[in-house]
Amino acid sequence: MVDIKNLVVVGAGQMGGGIAQMALLAGYNATLVDVKDEFVDAGWKKIDAGMTKLEGKGALPEGTTAAGIMAKCKKTTDLASAVKDADIVIEAVVERMDVKKQVFKTCGENAPSHCILASNTSTMSITEMASDSGRPDKCIGMHFFNPVPLMRLIEVIYSEHSSDESINAGIKFAESIPCLRGERFIAKVLRDRPGFICNRVTAPVQIYTNYVYDRCADEGKTWQQLDNDSRGGPMSLTVLADYVGIDTMYHGQNYYAKTLSPDFSPGKIITKMFNEGKLGAKTGQGFNDWSKGRPQGDKSVGKARIYKIKYPIAIMVNEACRVLEEKITDSWEVIDKALAAGMNMPGPMAANLKTYEKQVEVLNELVELTGKEYFRPCELLKSGKWVDIK
Ligand code: 3HC
Repeated sequence: MVDIKNLVVVGAGQMGGGIAQMALLAGYNATLVDVKDEFVDAGWKKIDAGMTKLEGKGALPEGTTAAGIMAKCKKTTDLASAVKDADIVIEAVVERMDVKKQVFKTCGENAPSHCILASNTSTMSITEMASDSGRPDKCIGMHFFNPVPLMRLIEVIYSEHSSDESINAGIKFAESIPCLRGERFIAKVLRDRPGFICNRVTAPVQIYTNYVYDRCADEGKTWQQLDNDSRGGPMSLTVLADYVGIDTMYHGQNYYAKTLSPDFSPGKIITKMFNEGKLGAKTGQGFNDWSKGRPQGDKSVGKARIYKIKYPIAIMVNEACRVLEEKITDSWEVIDKALAAGMNMPGPMAANLKTYEKQVEVLNELVELTGKEYFRPCELLKSGKWVDIK
């Protein structure tokens, strides 16, 4: 199995920077690559600030200093020469297949033959991405969650051509990456299907939230009122959307619309925000103003009374059953653990072992409410046989 020392991260944004920072903490050499100097400089500085913060808390690995670790972090805009000594490359560039394919092609042409090429895509086909890489057996998915330093999940994903050896090397590497909060959970994803496990289970919730955003706007209610419908989780509805990024959601929804069902097409509000460049935390403006840090919400404005938590739960149970039907994983326990580690939310399955028939009714009600056929309960949910796929 490949002995990994040198990591190249392509894309120095929030995800790429988080991946590089955690890998540096594990002792790897990391090179940050992006298309402009200003992007790699900003990414490098953010990592440096994180390391300095950890140093101040005495939380760096014993015998290391922030400066010593950062000396192992290079930055460049030249991908072809950056990968010359790479043992593993993780791409975390924009969610566009043409851009990702080009990254895989350049890496395939320039990296040593043992080098593993991994994609941090949220949704897209690793098989297609790897098609021009010249080494499809060495291409895998390695999907981190945002923020990488704090979210425990890493999904390691088989494409149609990944070798077991590449997947095992990916798993070993993922296991070595620390998490600042709790133990990592590594989920092996058995099939290259849109959204893999965690994002796939939650993906159709976006069909519902598109309905909710559009209705909220149509009824003249505010986003703060809508957020007051959804308090209780680690982030309220619009804050989480801003945090994930409106562009990430927009591209993801279009991808699901092409690959799973047209019901996923972005709603009116998400499309408008995307076109106006209001992309969330990263641009300082999304649903909320982020110029002074994370929005705190305002309980005094009351609720919109549009969003109902019973629907996302029913949607996730249904989609998790589709994940089992499509053999993306062979265990509902893995699905629950993945959601806990990747999104800090309880997985939907254990809680519904005895109540799934009720969820079938809720889903049929939701089809009536929204007109979206994708919410129809699937056969595995209706039969209750998923309970045994543990
Ligand atoms: N380096 C060093 N320290 C860091 C750091 C870094 N890079 N990042 C955070 N920290 C430190 C902070 O400084 C803070 O330290 P302190 O306690 O000494 O002040 C500590 O870690 C905790 O940070 P926060 O205060 O920011 O953490 P919160 O307690 O507010 O929790 C959260 C933040 C974990 C993001 C929580 O709100 C949450 O769970 N939200 C849900 C996130 C989620 O669902 N993510 C998944 C999105 S979907 C996805 O990613 C899929 C993809 O495909 C798009």
